[in-house]
Amino acid sequence: MSDAFSIRLAREDDIPALEVLIPLSVRVLQAPFYSPAQMEAALGPVFSVDRQLISDGTYFVVEHSGHIVGCGGWSRRRAEFGGDQTRCAEDAALDPAHDPARIRAFFVHPDWARRGIGRSILSACESAICAAGFRDVVLVATLAGEPLYSSFGYSVAERYDVPLPDGLMLPVVRMVKSFKSE
Ligand SMILES: CC(C)(COP(=O)(O)OP(=O)(O)OC[C@H]1O[C@@H](n2cnc3c(N)ncnc32)[C@H](O)[C@@H]1OP(=O)(O)O)[C@@H](O)C(=O)NCCC(=O)NCCS
Repeated sequence: MSDAFSIRLAREDDIPALEVLIPLSVRVLQAPFYSPAQMEAALGPVFSVDRQLISDGTYFVVEHSGHIVGCGGWSRRRAEFGGDQTRCAEDAALDPAHDPARIRAFFVHPDWARRGIGRSILSACESAICAAGFRDVVLVATLAGEPLYSSFGYSVAERYDVPLPDGLMLPVVRMVKSFKSE
């Protein structure tokens, strides 16, 4: 079977497949970094579909043989992470001249890890971010995601804990990159 995959913008009708992919990706690929209790508590408030990214046309899916095996995107809006559950109104727009764009919500199917899908989505995001006039990017990485972003030249700005339900905490990393000198 071919390993070829293709990338395209996500559509509303991809949401049911994304709602299956995201928990699968989290429960397997984050297991070396977070406890089961942390992962279950973060599924929903932190890790979930953000319809705003899909309707903005800034969210990508990667397909293999018609199945979605990865997703991720960027944002021209203020939120740094989270999905529909944590937002009650439309998220405010950023100013490309002054604000950093966001990288958001990357999830790869465990069977497809380390085959370049994350890299391919991140490259597409960076191209779109530059085309939209942004010169800086910020993201909040999981400990599972940190090596991908490091490999693209993102540097650690801050390590902190996101509070979760039931008093749990999720250690994350705020990472930044500037395109100004590129
Ligand atoms: C983070 C994630 C999206 C990476 O996706 P991926 O498709 O496996 O990443 P790629 O194959 O494109 O990796 C590109 C490069 O990133 C680095 N990298 C990615 N995963 C790594 C890992 N587990 N360990 C070390 N380096 C890693 C490597 O430099 C890699 O290049 P190489 O394979 O040639 O050495 C994936 O692990 C994932 O979905 N994790 C669970 C969900 C999650 O935490 N998402 C991050 C939200 S911020």
